[in-house]
Order: sequence, then structure tokens, then C-alpha cells
Amino acid sequence: MASSSLIYETGAWKDLKAHVEDIEKIHLRDLMSDTVRCKSMIIDFDGVLLDYSRQRANFDTLNKLHNLAKAAHLKEKINGMFNGERINSTENRSVLHIALRAPRDSVINSDGKNVVPDVWQVLDKIRDFSERVRSGAWVGATGKVLKDVIAIGIGGSFLGPLFVHTALQKDPEAIEFARGRQLRFLANVDPIDVARNIAGLNPETTLVVVVSKTFTTAETMLNARTLREWISAALGPQAVAKHMVAVSTNLTLVEKFGIDPNNAFAFWDWVGGRYSVCSAVGVLPLSLQYGFSVVEKFLKGASSIDQHFYSAPFEKNLPVLLGLLSIWNVSFLGYPARAILPYSQALEKFAPHIQQVSMESNGKGVSIDGVPLPYETGEIDFGEPGTNGQHSFYQLIHQGRVIPCDFIGVVKSQQPVYLKGEMVSNHDELMSNFFAQPDALAYGKTAEQLLKENVPQPLIPHKTFSGNRPSLSLLLPTLNAYNIGQLLAIYEHRIAVEGFLWGINSFDQWGVELGKSLATQVRKQLHASRKKGEPIEGFNFSTTTMLTRYLEESADVPKEDCTILPKI
Ligand code: F6P
Repeated sequence: MASSSLIYETGAWKDLKAHVEDIEKIHLRDLMSDTVRCKSMIIDFDGVLLDYSRQRANFDTLNKLHNLAKAAHLKEKINGMFNGERINSTENRSVLHIALRAPRDSVINSDGKNVVPDVWQVLDKIRDFSERVRSGAWVGATGKVLKDVIAIGIGGSFLGPLFVHTALQKDPEAIEFARGRQLRFLANVDPIDVARNIAGLNPETTLVVVVSKTFTTAETMLNARTLREWISAALGPQAVAKHMVAVSTNLTLVEKFGIDPNNAFAFWDWVGGRYSVCSAVGVLPLSLQYGFSVVEKFLKGASSIDQHFYSAPFEKNLPVLLGLLSIWNVSFLGYPARAILPYSQALEKFAPHIQQVSMESNGKGVSIDGVPLPYETGEIDFGEPGTNGQHSFYQLIHQGRVIPCDFIGVVKSQQPVYLKGEMVSNHDELMSNFFAQPDALAYGKTAEQLLKENVPQPLIPHKTFSGNRPSLSLLLPTLNAYNIGQLLAIYEHRIAVEGFLWGINSFDQWGVELGKSLATQVRKQLHASRKKGEPIEGFNFSTTTMLTRYLEESADVPKEDCTILPKI
């Protein structure tokens, strides 16, 4: 296999570079008038409809992108992932989040061992534990049912589960299962987040789930110690055994922390943090809230897309097409950002989750072989649900910078509302915007159109929309656990496709390490200055000045060892 780091030197890459000039000559208005083209750009799989006809692409572009996929050995790389090869080479790990949602009878090997039975052993343990907690067979230290859960974790140990929880919260089936229960997420080491999470909760009825792949993440461990103190202070230290459980790959550190290893739920180093929502990281807190049967549907939705990704021809393969189009937008048309715009408030945490999956995966500067890249990788992902975003940053998207948009809509609302006398239902009102925005971006509005509308001459430049702004639309049938799983897997695999094409390692994250180690140095300095009055040393002028101000003006921090929990 040719080195993937050379992708930009291949004929396929150069061909696409040259092709940009052809595409620059065609406006999306004209591309959209070709019905044969548009028809070929609508794909339907398992209820999910993808329409990418509003991409600045024609048949030629697609052919050339498929040639790029061949040149990048995309099929072989996808197979390598599904076969458990150690494609995360800098950490010497396979990348098998697909095994987390594989049916019980499937075989997925890592190092010659089928990992699926291990996955199901943990899933069965979660089913059993969550049912015991939910039914009151497992109670807290004072005999009360544990109806509230705080999941402590950050990054991949937080964002995925939060996205799924938020998406399920108003699903009619999930609501029934969650009655009388609360699930909260404590991520930030900011003590305000502790205060917000424990506000209104009684330690007697609260179960804390510490979620950390490594069990060393500074923020999570301090938050875990803080809530351990909250429980111990109220119920005594022996209560920890009943009120704290863990999800981790590091069961030794779980035990050292004081959590009974029997109450720990394992996962494996072949699950990347940001790809871990389908492991116990997400499945445990979500099963506690909604019951395992609902969460199993989420896993099934993701698994359906896994099979599709693995076996569908690239021309009909949702994640592959999405990945190819992203590469076209970023590396050839020069659009570095992407807006994720779900027309569903239930998906309000989808963009924050995809931000991590995408930007931590593909924000790299060297090829998988360590060669500095002569092209940029990764996308700047951001987003808000529609219609809120329309009243926030859409101005820039319509008349400022070109930002390819992903519009995500849902046919059937989780919570239909119809008002007598209104022209349309509330969901139809929302979806009117979902259907209108992509055309506004693609077609724009010309000076001639404005003149016909008698717009005064001085306003014409201000009211003109250039159009020719690409987007794609994904339409889901409903937003239930199954569809949420589908959506997640589509994006996870799309991001993998992009990384495979760019020839990078999408599964490591060395870029987050430097800041962490510098924080260690600051932490030591703060301790030394506060407790022993030591001067600030070893920092540059700027940091020294800021630290001095910080220390001087926060002199009320207690000097003695003592515990202060938030006032709630
Ligand atoms: O921010 C870096 C990171 O390692 C993420 O990749 C990960 O999701 C997060 O920290 C949390 O890590 P852990 O689950 O080990 O606490």
C-alpha cells in the first residue's frame, strides 16, 4: 500500500485541484436545475435521507472524489478498522468502537481474540445493575432508592452521553422510563459546576458514576473526590460503597480511589475516549436513567450504520459520501469550517459532541507516518439548533464567509404541538425553516430580483445574497433512541473517512497534552505560593504578572487544610 502521507502527490488529488476551476464557473443555481444530477445526490438508507445536491459538485467531482478514495486506499483502511488492526499506530491500539454495538453473535477480533463476548458481559452487567438501582433492589446507605444520578467525566467521558441524554429527554418512550429520575453531568473542574450539580439533590438518594477511561484526568478526579466528600460528610465514609460506582479501563486506580471493583464497569483501550459513548461510558448512566431496553435501541441504530459503512458501495454509502464531500470543501474549495444545524432542540448537544469527535480526531499537523503535512486537516465545527442559530450567526453564513452547513431535520416531532387557528403545526413551522435555509444559501438573491421588488437602489448591495453556498440535508424519520444511534455513527464514520483520506491518525490526541503539563507547573506554583509563601518562579513575564495579580487578589483562600463545599 502506498504511503498515505503522499495523498496530495497522487494524480487523483491533483486532478481535483485542477477541477476546482471548472466548479468555480458554475453557480449552485445552475447545478440545482439539473434534475438528473439532483436525483443522483439523494440517498436513502434505513429511513435516513441524505440530500447533497446543494454541494458545489457535479458528476465529475464525485468521480474524482471516488478516485481519491481509491488512491487513499479507503476501502482497505475501513477493512483494517473492522478487522481490529492497530490503526491507531502512535498508541499501538486498534479502533473498535464498532464492537461496542455489535450484535451478541458477531465476531470482531482484536489481537486474534473476539472482543464481542467481553462487550456483552459488561452490557449484561449494566442491564442487571441498572435494573437493580431502578427497581430499588440496590438502595443507598440509609435504605432509600437512588433516583438521581450524577455522572462525573469530561471530554469523551461526558459529551457523547450528554448529547444522547439531551436527545432522549423528550422522546415519549424514554420519558416513561425516566419518570421520577434525574441524570446530571458534572464535567468542569470549576466549583460552580459542582454547586450546580448537587443543587437540590439529597446524597441519600444520589448515585455518583465516575467516568474516566484513564482514571487520572485531573478535572474528573478532583470532582470525584469532591463528591466523595459530599457523600461522606452527609452519610459517613462507609456510604461511598453504595453511592459511588465507576466506568474505566483502569480498574486498579478505581479500587485505589475507594470504589469496589465489583461496582466498576470496564471498557478497553481499543475504545477512544471520544468514541466511547456506546461503551459503559454512555450505556451505564443512560441505562440508569432510561432503562437498558431504550439504550439497546440506541446501540442497534449505531450498529445498522456500522454495517452499512462496512458493506455499502461508496456511491451509496452515507458516511463515505459525507467524508468525501468534507474533503472537497476543506482541501479543495478552501472552506475550513462546517456548521452543524439540527432543526431539533433535542439535538442541542450534538454539535458540541461532534466538535470533540471531529476536531480532536482530525486536527493534526503530521501524517500517520509523522511527516509534516503540506495541507491542512480538520474542520472547525460549530453549531446550534435551528431556528436559534438563524437569529445568531446565520448573517455571516448568508452574506459573510462561506461555511458549508449540515442541516439535520426530523420528520416526526418528539413533542407535536398544534394550535387551533394556526396556519401550521409548531413542528411544521420549525421545518419550514429547515427547508427554506438551504435554498436561501444555494440560490441567494440577485440585484435584478431586488429591483423587481422595488428595493431602493442604495439598499440593493446590502440586500443582495450571492448564493452559491453549499449545504447538505439529513432527514431522520423520528428522533428515537434508534435514530440517535444512527446519527452518531454516521458522523463518527464520516470523520474516520476524512482522516483516512488525509492520511492522518484520527485516533490519537497528543495535542491536548502540552496544556495539561503546563497546568501541573502552575498548580505546583499556586500551592507553593499560597501555603509556603514562595515567590513565583520559572514563568515568563506575562504569566508571572497574571499569577501575581491572581494570588494577591484571592488572598481569602484558606491557608489551612480544610474542606469547604459549595453553598447551595
Ligand atoms: O482531553 C483529552 C482527553 O484525553 C479526551 O480524549 C478524553 O475524552 C478526555 O480527556 C477524558 O479522559 P478520561 O476519560 O481518561 O478521563
